[in-house]
Amino acid sequence: MKSLYGDTKRSIMTEFTGGDVYQAEFDPKAFLEYFKLGEDTWRDDFLIFILKQYCKTFASGELQGDTLIDIGSGPNIHQLLSACESFQEIIASDYTDRNRQELEQWLKNEPGAFDWTPVVKYVCELEGDRQKKAEKEAKLRQAIKRVLKCDVHKSNPMDPLTLPPADCLISSLCLEAACQDQNTYRMALKNISSLLKPGGHLVLSGDLGCSFFMVGPKRFSCLVLKEEFLREALNETGFSIQEFEVLCRDENIIDDSSDFSGMYFILARKEAAI
Ligand SMILES: C[S@@+](CC[C@H](N)C(=O)[O-])C[C@H]1O[C@@H](n2cnc3c(N)ncnc32)[C@H](O)[C@@H]1O
Repeated sequence: MKSLYGDTKRSIMTEFTGGDVYQAEFDPKAFLEYFKLGEDTWRDDFLIFILKQYCKTFASGELQGDTLIDIGSGPNIHQLLSACESFQEIIASDYTDRNRQELEQWLKNEPGAFDWTPVVKYVCELEGDRQKKAEKEAKLRQAIKRVLKCDVHKSNPMDPLTLPPADCLISSLCLEAACQDQNTYRMALKNISSLLKPGGHLVLSGDLGCSFFMVGPKRFSCLVLKEEFLREALNETGFSIQEFEVLCRDENIIDDSSDFSGMYFILARKEAAI
């Protein structure tokens, strides 16, 4: 079977969707459809890949400290479920009001909040079932101390707030969504790196070879990333890469919600402030 994108990939051009478009048109509820574990096998593989990477990374005991900042959290919490075992204070952040509201809704356990049950149960299993779903959720709710506005294009992404440098940064699918070209990506990486202590870790993940993704009926642009570029950009920004894992998408999968070719997971250490 031929991939839907086999012939058409180059011809699909998505106009850049910047911050204003996110603010006006990124629907958190529609985006969260991608996180209903157990409903779509091939997508599940990618969610499971990333949850396993987080579990392995945070269970290793190597990433220690008090504070962790998540950059461009979206309406999501899955990226923080293992991290809350190692960091007592987590700051979530996003550009849009609606994403931050959606997160707050989950934090306050309000009616209508997204049901993360299958994902939370899966992470509990991965971690050896030491905790039940309710304990895990309570632990994460307790650890997330703030949900802040952030903009990766600002030299201080948390402006007007100045945060003490964190011990760890997580960012998933954010920089490629927020940046139009490679130079902007490099600059955004430098901006977020300023929030991290020298010696601290960056846990960076996202899509390779992706030019767009759908959120409900709306198409969002994505900066097409390759492994070589990511390695180069991280090195230039003063990071040493400790792990670089990739899960490739089966070319035969026909799905028109995104043209990504694989997912990457990177663990990097900030060696120098550049
Ligand atoms: C594809 S979503 C990823 C959400 C989540 N981190 C995940 O892994 O699923 C991209 C996120 O980047 C955020 N974003 C877009 N432009 C941004 C900017 N300039 N600064 C910070 N976040 C931005 C969006 O609001 C959105 O939540």
